[in-house]
Amino acid sequence: GKVAVLMGGRSSEREVSLMSGQGVLDALRARGVDAHAFDPAERELSALKAEGFARCFIALHGRYGEDGTVQGALELLDIPYTGPGVMASSIAMDKIMTKRIWRFEGLPTPDWRLVASADETRAALAALGAPMIVKPAREGSTIGLTKVVDAEQCAQAYALASQYDPEVLCEQFIDGDETTCPVLESAGRANALPVIRIVAPEGNYDYQNKYFTDTTQYHCPSGLPQSEEQDIQRIVEKAFRTLGCRGWARADIMVRASDRKPFLLEINTSPGMTSHSLVPMAARASGISYEDLCLRILANAAL
Ligand code: DAL
Ligand code: MG
Repeated sequence: GKVAVLMGGRSSEREVSLMSGQGVLDALRARGVDAHAFDPAERELSALKAEGFARCFIALHGRYGEDGTVQGALELLDIPYTGPGVMASSIAMDKIMTKRIWRFEGLPTPDWRLVASADETRAALAALGAPMIVKPAREGSTIGLTKVVDAEQCAQAYALASQYDPEVLCEQFIDGDETTCPVLESAGRANALPVIRIVAPEGNYDYQNKYFTDTTQYHCPSGLPQSEEQDIQRIVEKAFRTLGCRGWARADIMVRASDRKPFLLEINTSPGMTSHSLVPMAARASGISYEDLCLRILANAAL
């Protein structure tokens, strides 16, 4: 039947989503799937039913797409969709809720504080130590994020993050290797793909370096010792299951230089699928082409 590739949407990651969606759309069509672009910012989701769409590939990022809202609407419309369900999407969108659950389950995640003012941000810096990451609890693509090294930066960092979300997260910065690891479900099992190690210019893997520059280096194979790589993969699979994820996702992990301990930062339940994106890269390293990856994700579509 007809497949709608949901792309665009109303979040601050709209631009990224349009790139992801175009890639997915081209790949599905190349494999003979009757796929059509559908932008929920321009049209009512209820049109999906009227137009006879059998399934949705969710290529939306951020709010109203990755956060359980669209998933809930599709549940009501009875149209199977890719990726995690309502609850897992909703929790994973919120980095604070995610960290609470991981911490409770004994999964490693950096120490943090939830703050509601510049003063609390300064207090968080005193408690957590510098450097510290200040970011909106529910955003993606490093939007609204500041790496704070001294108290002078706290007010501005808080002001920036709170433009995107009233919930602002201060997180201890883990100095070490920046890595990411996708999970792809197959036959009901969550399997980690190879780990990617990211080396960004000046250690700054920001919005620009994520999608537009070609100076970020991606290592896959990661170059990490095999035991470390496997350790990361097991942690990521557990992180995925603990939140009740389904289908696919991609977790971001820092490996601390001093003791090689991995720390989970977050899990993305509708990861980027752009030409610069990481899930396609890890899939390719394990012999799965971009087109096959899209077909596999689509095959896991469920209600
Ligand atoms: N939030 C972006 C799309 C990602 O995690 O890939
Ligand atoms: Mg993210």
